[in-house]
Amino acid sequence: MNTPHAQTIAAIRRQRGASLVIMGHHYQGGLVIQHTDLRGDSLELARQVRGLRAARHIVFCGVSFMAETAAMLAAPGQKVVSPAPEAGCVMADMAPGPLADAVLRRLTADGRRIIPLAYVNTDAHVKAVVARHGGSVCTSANAPAMLRWALERGDGVLFLPDKNLGHNTANILGLREDRRAVIDVSGMGAALDPAALRSKTLLLWPGMCVVHKRFTAAQVEAVRHRDPDALVVVHPECEPEVVGRADAAGSTSFIIRYVAEAPRGAAIYVGTELNLVERLAREHEGVRTVRPLTPSHCRNMAKTTEEVLAATLEDLDDIEPVTVPCDVARDAVVAIERMLEACR
Ligand code: 13P
Ligand code: SF4
Repeated sequence: MNTPHAQTIAAIRRQRGASLVIMGHHYQGGLVIQHTDLRGDSLELARQVRGLRAARHIVFCGVSFMAETAAMLAAPGQKVVSPAPEAGCVMADMAPGPLADAVLRRLTADGRRIIPLAYVNTDAHVKAVVARHGGSVCTSANAPAMLRWALERGDGVLFLPDKNLGHNTANILGLREDRRAVIDVSGMGAALDPAALRSKTLLLWPGMCVVHKRFTAAQVEAVRHRDPDALVVVHPECEPEVVGRADAAGSTSFIIRYVAEAPRGAAIYVGTELNLVERLAREHEGVRTVRPLTPSHCRNMAKTTEEVLAATLEDLDDIEPVTVPCDVARDAVVAIERMLEACR
């Protein structure tokens, strides 16, 4: 759409050329995503940053943990800018760094080797804590490979903060339910009973995504009843009862491919953030019918608007870049590198 903001953005992009790269997560709205040079799921975006050596400015449209990851992977002299620095992630906030550290210390006080595996939806402090405890990070696209990586390295794994992704990934690996436990992290870990958890291989942080919690097993059942031929694809942040009833589950890029590869004429119900579902519905209109399992919006992703993006670009030379304290970044990058190395 050729709005005044779109014209501003286009003019600045022309003027700055290859020195400006705009990246965007698939959950960004259409008015923002149309201006991106690169879009992707969390793993693809993280991987692409290292290839952007000509860029002086990387403008990251997404939420703060993604922009932070990009800032830590950027080359010296490159400036990563977030149009909406206040856009956090409700799930990432459920696992603050000092709490993650306290819980890990308590779980390992008796010498048990617990390898932490943090979903990339965590802040840099958590990634640094995880690195210091010998762990790594994962995204929804590589969680099974990374959980296997972590299981091979210790007596147990602490998966944080998304218990749903943890359960869904354990189901893929065939890790029995009685070998898993959702842990109580209250009182800075004081409520934990490490001896009682010794028989558990997978310890799950009690976090979740509020956007994906809105999808329910009853909604999938209703689709099956209404339209038995319809396909259902969901993000693995949904509860296991939802994932177990769906035809497929995977990262945002997986969902995009799944819809594109579905037979012509198919009806596909999608359990993920609404901006992506609406874009898929538009792109496949007349060929496939794409509907949300239920409309569910991430209010943090929505904080980057076309107007905010235009204002950011106008102010690019003066705007504060995304920064992570050096000691935190140094360790957090180790955790990210372990993932990139394990999943080339
Ligand atoms: P993806 O890595 O699948 O893009 O997911 C990121 C996210 O925040 C999902 O809620
Ligand atoms: Fe975080 Fe959920 Fe929004 Fe993804 S959809 S950014 S996990 S709150």
